[in-house]
Amino acid sequence: MIEVSGLEVRYGAVRAVRNVSLHVGQGELVTVLGANGAGKSSLLLAIAGALTPSRGTLHLAKKDVTGYSPERMVRLGVAMVPETRDVFPDLTVSENLRLGAYIRRAQTSAVNADLQRMYTLFPLLKERQQQAAGTLSGGEQQMLVIARAMMCDPKILLLDEPSLGLAPTIVNQIFEMIVELKATGISILLVEQNATKALQIADRAYVMRLGEIAAQDSAAAIAEASDLRAMYLGG
Ligand SMILES: Nc1ncnc2c1ncn2[C@@H]1O[C@H](COP(=O)(O)OP(=O)(O)OP(=O)(O)O)[C@@H](O)[C@H]1O
Ligand SMILES: [Mg+2]
Repeated sequence: MIEVSGLEVRYGAVRAVRNVSLHVGQGELVTVLGANGAGKSSLLLAIAGALTPSRGTLHLAKKDVTGYSPERMVRLGVAMVPETRDVFPDLTVSENLRLGAYIRRAQTSAVNADLQRMYTLFPLLKERQQQAAGTLSGGEQQMLVIARAMMCDPKILLLDEPSLGLAPTIVNQIFEMIVELKATGISILLVEQNATKALQIADRAYVMRLGEIAAQDSAAAIAEASDLRAMYLGG
């Protein structure tokens, strides 16, 4: 589905992502792990088209999409949920979700069907559909931004640290949500610092360190590599 090859992302002289190659197959859930500053967000932003790589290529379903704008990437089915967890605070849950479908203006009935599909998958959002998004808890806001990203009917979902700053029970809910989304057949690239939880739900994993891929394997194999965890993932 997505293939990244030899990718480099720079901020001036800082090389945040160095020679990174990875792929995510159709329906696969792949996690990218790594400590603070490893370059995980920069990698995701480059895949979403929000940062232009200084080297390397990005292919989506075999098509070269290197350097495409974020809007073009969304239209091609790449949706990103950034670390910042931004909702439109004064708009309701339902209005926030509809805004996620802005690229599909002409397809009202399909958008309505997807809205109902999100409410079925995530009943908590249905209960709160008329509530202002700014009054939701942190975990509920995280659910909302993920569901909103799904409203553009993506083929691949890029998630940047969805568990960040949330209490353990809420983290479990978010991870259950991700598992439910995977069951719909979508591909997911999940960036996490919570290695234990991410490795429980992922098919494969990459470990980033100082901008590079330090290790890659099945999630089960990475979970068992205790030396790797101690070195790069904080135990
Ligand atoms: N806008 C920026 N300008 C300059 N340097 C940046 C910028 N954004 C990130 N960096 C640098 O790039 C490197 C990688 O940052 P990035 O945010 O991609 O890491 P990360 O793995 O997502 O970290 P975290 O887990 O803390 O979110 C860091 O050294 C960071 O300081
Ligand atoms: Mg980050």
